[in-house]
Amino acid sequence: MSVTVVVGSQWGDEGKGKIVHFLSEKADIVARYQGGANAGHTVVVGDRTTVLHLLPVGVLWPHVTCIIGAGVVIDPADLMDEIEQLRQAGIDLTGRLLISHQAHLIMPYHKLLDRMTEEKSPREKIGTTGRGIGPAYVDKAARTGIRIVDLLNHNVLRAKLRRNIEEKNLLLSRIYETEQLDEDQIIQEYLEFDEQIDPYVKDVSVYLNDAIQEGKTILLEGAQGTLLDVDAGTYPFVTSSNPTAGGALTGLGIGPRCVDRVIGVMKAYTTRVGLGPFPTELSGELGELFREVGTEFGATTGRPRRCGWFDAVIGRYSARVNGVDAWAVTKLDVLTGVHPLKVCVAYEDGRRTYRHFPAVPHILEACQPVYEDLPGWTENIQNARTFDELPANAKGYLRFIEEITGAPVGIVSVGPDRDMTIVRDAPAQP
Ligand code: IMP
Repeated sequence: MSVTVVVGSQWGDEGKGKIVHFLSEKADIVARYQGGANAGHTVVVGDRTTVLHLLPVGVLWPHVTCIIGAGVVIDPADLMDEIEQLRQAGIDLTGRLLISHQAHLIMPYHKLLDRMTEEKSPREKIGTTGRGIGPAYVDKAARTGIRIVDLLNHNVLRAKLRRNIEEKNLLLSRIYETEQLDEDQIIQEYLEFDEQIDPYVKDVSVYLNDAIQEGKTILLEGAQGTLLDVDAGTYPFVTSSNPTAGGALTGLGIGPRCVDRVIGVMKAYTTRVGLGPFPTELSGELGELFREVGTEFGATTGRPRRCGWFDAVIGRYSARVNGVDAWAVTKLDVLTGVHPLKVCVAYEDGRRTYRHFPAVPHILEACQPVYEDLPGWTENIQNARTFDELPANAKGYLRFIEEITGAPVGIVSVGPDRDMTIVRDAPAQP
């Protein structure tokens, strides 16, 4: 029995999908705590690749109960599509998917506003996924959001929608000089989700706290990553939720003492999609090589990911703000054949050296990484199943990461398949 948070430690796309799927085999419950369909969790099982955007990765194990917490923003059409796709693949979620009645809904105007804001001022563009995430969280904070519970009461839903659509139409015509929303069509569309969603709706805070009392094994699944966190990340180039470990508590309605351990997932190098500073970014052939070998293209948008060297300043930061107990280092195999391997150990801007991540774009943009070189390896590591089976230089690379970030490496992923995984020691086990 244990409660484990699995958190992204860089700019998202660290391989949380694979790690959560791997750990879910021994879990009773997997609960997603923030974000929405901006996430894309890829899981490879045999010759089948599944990409999940909203549903927790645990859905792929029939014995796992899956939860979508209050911190998630849900596009009902996307959710129903994903449930239907899984049903067609023989995975029935009836009775084992629970959705918080407090979760907020993504509305058509959120997606429209997401697109309009990005197009209107290219200089202030974030490079969002265009899924309406930011505007949905804006309404949540402004206390005008529509929640799952509102779907169940048609009178409340109609009244709230009317008010919101009126306001968004004003915004769309006056600021963005664009199309108007069809109020009746939206109301009709959302009234229909009521019956579809009803069987899944639950007070998930009560359910989870009971499950914790009963000693169940629970994984709390984050989306995106620490540097995309609205508070801890490279603001304003962030998403609008809290992917960091603290978000698991507020996003699911559990207290801090319930959490037994935090696993930080991080790639053996660094990637980022969207705009914003990225100190160790590689623009030349090597960046291209990481992209090709690591298939670094967004699972949600298909955009090529920016690639760069491993950044231990970020690792240290992530260990600190998430309270990481152990790392799950992913895609170590992608580095095979690269020599020397550079690891960023600090930043400098000509006046001072930064050992702690400054998390401020204009400072980061002025900084140059300070690298240490480590020797690479050429052996294929995809068949290694224990730490000792890794080449000496791969072990040296991981040990260096442990030393410089201050947290142990508990899991190493050496390939996309579930079994291409090394579990090193107890802190990483659920
Ligand atoms: P939004 O979450 O769509 O508002 O996008 C805000 C920023 O977060 C953009 O830079 C996106 O590229 C990035 N982002 C959002 N979701 C993910 C993800 O799952 N992986 C990586 N980056 C993401």
